[in-house]
Amino acid sequence: MGKESLTITDNRTGTSYEVPIEDGAISASAIRKIKTSDDDFGLLTYDPGLSATASVKSAITYIDGDAGILRYRGYPIDQLAAHSSYLETAYLIVKGELPDRQALEAWEHNITMHTMLHENLKKFMEGFRYDAHPMGILVGTVAALSTFYPDAKNIDDVESRRLQARRLIGKMPTIAAAAYRYSLGLPYVQPDNDLSYAGNFLSMLFKMTELKYVPNPVLERALDVLFILHADHEQNCSANAIRAVGSSRVDPYSATAAAAAALYGPLHGGANEAAVNMLKEIGSVEKIPQFIEKVKAGEGRLMGFGHRVYKNYDPRATIIKRIADGVFEETGKNSLIDIAVELERIALQDDYFIDRKLYPNVDFYSGIIYEAMGFPTAMFPVLFAIGRTSGWVAQWAENVIDEEQRIVRPRQLYLGADTRDFVPLTERPKPATRERKLLAGKML
Ligand code: ACO
Repeated sequence: MGKESLTITDNRTGTSYEVPIEDGAISASAIRKIKTSDDDFGLLTYDPGLSATASVKSAITYIDGDAGILRYRGYPIDQLAAHSSYLETAYLIVKGELPDRQALEAWEHNITMHTMLHENLKKFMEGFRYDAHPMGILVGTVAALSTFYPDAKNIDDVESRRLQARRLIGKMPTIAAAAYRYSLGLPYVQPDNDLSYAGNFLSMLFKMTELKYVPNPVLERALDVLFILHADHEQNCSANAIRAVGSSRVDPYSATAAAAAALYGPLHGGANEAAVNMLKEIGSVEKIPQFIEKVKAGEGRLMGFGHRVYKNYDPRATIIKRIADGVFEETGKNSLIDIAVELERIALQDDYFIDRKLYPNVDFYSGIIYEAMGFPTAMFPVLFAIGRTSGWVAQWAENVIDEEQRIVRPRQLYLGADTRDFVPLTERPKPATRERKLLAGKML
């Protein structure tokens, strides 16, 4: 084994630099030291999408995308999905270790004690239009939590951080259920502290006039496992968002709202909604080949396929496929599953998908299960957000206490106009129509 370093020769100057390799990475600030002269700003690395940049040191989640491995705090996702509960997994993610019985009971109790919403927060939610997307309601309402809990600004106080974490994990299902009930014009249902985390969520969603809602145990467990599968996924778009926004030292509710906003996008948490819509659009197994040809011709993407990190089967998709069988036994089979299975079969034999290592991701099957359970598609990213809250909280807190972290403020490569003098409006030449269109630009 050679030396753990890199020797870089700058061919512009002939100078060589030795850059140490630590944990499989070189420090980007070492690259900045590569200069052509003393007043040179220094070399930058250019990495749109940050796919070749490690921006944090983290001990929460490990992914090996080539091998299809996902572990929370070292524990394989399939073991957690088989043996753990969402709240136990949330404890593991947030605190770093599995709890003993006493710690788990205390944690469950503490989360349960924070499931209720301030009445004014409910009134705030009523300000949304009757047909507002529940994810929009969730993003806005989570941000509004910061105004109810100004103590959350004490981000350097560990007790305050713990309290906000419990509030966020506790209240997220209540906000999600309220958003759903609101869109249907149904009265909100108070949390039922006798029920499990997932069972209580089902109760807040679906309870009608019965005195006590009794969740279907198969669906309750399926939902709990889906929350486990979505709990964290290292430096994805929304984790990066909560870290970047949190690096300004804003309160965790505002930072979580930013994470939820990131999750709303169709390339992230909105993909399960997009996947179900795509399956509906395909409509039947016979139409799959022609749909695949359209995707290969660049007309749209196969939603729920492909991943920035996984270049193999997403391990969560395998577990979800198994859950689907149990759910369908209770709810009856969703016709979309046949289209999904066949679409996956055809795509995985096609060179286009093989060459690009495109496999089903977590979103390919989750939407079908949610739909079979009675959720409208608009609720899918909301369900994702509930599970992901523990991951967000952990990513945020890890960033807050990391002394190497600073406010996130990337550099840019400026390729715009050089300095030029302002021309008063009256003196500007009138551009021809074509030039005016060009001036209008593509950006906005
Ligand atoms: N369907 C068809 N082609 C695809 C797909 C897809 N789903 N995903 C990637 N490709 C192609 C691209 O067109 C590109 O082809 P090219 O090299 O010929 O130009 C190549 O594969 C690489 O694609 P990139 O966009 O560079 O991959 P990137 O890592 O940036 O994107 C992403 C990852 C956003 C997930 C992408 O695969 C995608 O859009 N998938 C569909 C949306 C989706 O399912 N998102 C959920 C992700 S999981 C999550 O957030 C929970």
